[in-house]
Amino acid sequence: MSASPIKITSLVKDYEKLRAVDNVSFEMKRGEIFGLLGPNGAGKTTLISTIVTLEEPTSGTVEVFGHDVAREPSLTKTLTGFVPQELIHHGYFDVEEIMTFHSGYFGLRRNKERIDWLLQKLSLYEHRKKKVKQLSGGMKRRLLIAKALVHDPKVLLLDEPTAGVDIELREQLWSFVSELKSQGLSILLTTHYIQEAEQLCDRVGIIQKGKLRRVGPTRELIKELTKREIIVRMKQEPSSDPASPLFMRRRGSELVFQTPASMGAGDLLDSLGYDLKQVADLSIREGSLEDALKRVLGDEAAQLSPAPAIDPGGQP
Ligand SMILES: Nc1ncnc2c1ncn2[C@@H]1O[C@H](COP(=O)(O)OP(=O)(O)OP(=O)(O)O)[C@@H](O)[C@H]1O
Ligand SMILES: [Mg+2]
Repeated sequence: MSASPIKITSLVKDYEKLRAVDNVSFEMKRGEIFGLLGPNGAGKTTLISTIVTLEEPTSGTVEVFGHDVAREPSLTKTLTGFVPQELIHHGYFDVEEIMTFHSGYFGLRRNKERIDWLLQKLSLYEHRKKKVKQLSGGMKRRLLIAKALVHDPKVLLLDEPTAGVDIELREQLWSFVSELKSQGLSILLTTHYIQEAEQLCDRVGIIQKGKLRRVGPTRELIKELTKREIIVRMKQEPSSDPASPLFMRRRGSELVFQTPASMGAGDLLDSLGYDLKQVADLSIREGSLEDALKRVLGDEAAQLSPAPAIDPGGQP
């Protein structure tokens, strides 16, 4: 299998008058964690839904390891594992039963060892005899992840896997995702936790109003889209602001400069004609993925804060 885990070409999805996905093309690389980031309503879930054939594209194609999902839906289902954003309920079955039934869907039997491993990894083992309706929102989400992995898929799609999961379990979950990556799994995820995406994702795509605004390696995008701040605290308060295009603001003896990522503090001091003896302290704040998103999304960046857990409830 040398083809890309997911290749999307000129994908459009219309809901009546709304263009939810607007001519999106991108290709995942094998073995990477790819983060699809954007504000609420940007089209992330719609895009993922077309990959897993829950939605039919208006136009364009989706290929999973070189197979067109529209032509070979069953094969592509066995190659993919999918964790939906919305929690679903499975009535009165317990965790272990859900895992066994779901294995049956893929024709798998005698896979207790894998099921136990997944339940342990997702901190669900001690809850395996609990009925799904007795699980908390965070446990239900972890069960969805266990379920999506039962048939050992080659690409995993996680739509907001940590919504409603507390910080400690979130860390465990991300470290499990990294472990899956090290085993060769390719992973596409959406998240509103941008700092966590920065740590985890090899590449990211920034989506806004259905359009893929940017795609690239996380570090390169940060470098391209953000500036670093160098804060210079002088021993004596300068009588006037420095006449440098890099100077941003001053608070007393503290001067803040914005520099390109390639410019070090030494270069900055040289360009200002400052002697190190005049400087009391130096600190550097590197640009973050959050800064990069703010730059691309403008006013809409405010909507990036984590969405609350979605738990429709009430279903049998
Ligand atoms: N079944 C549907 N019918 C009509 N419109 C829909 C449907 N599903 C989604 N939409 C609309 O499509 C747009 C994209 O929604 P989508 O759920 O893909 O966004 P998202 O990026 O996943 O947002 P969030 O971060 O809130 O999960 C939104 O305007 C949404 O209201
Ligand atoms: Mg969504």
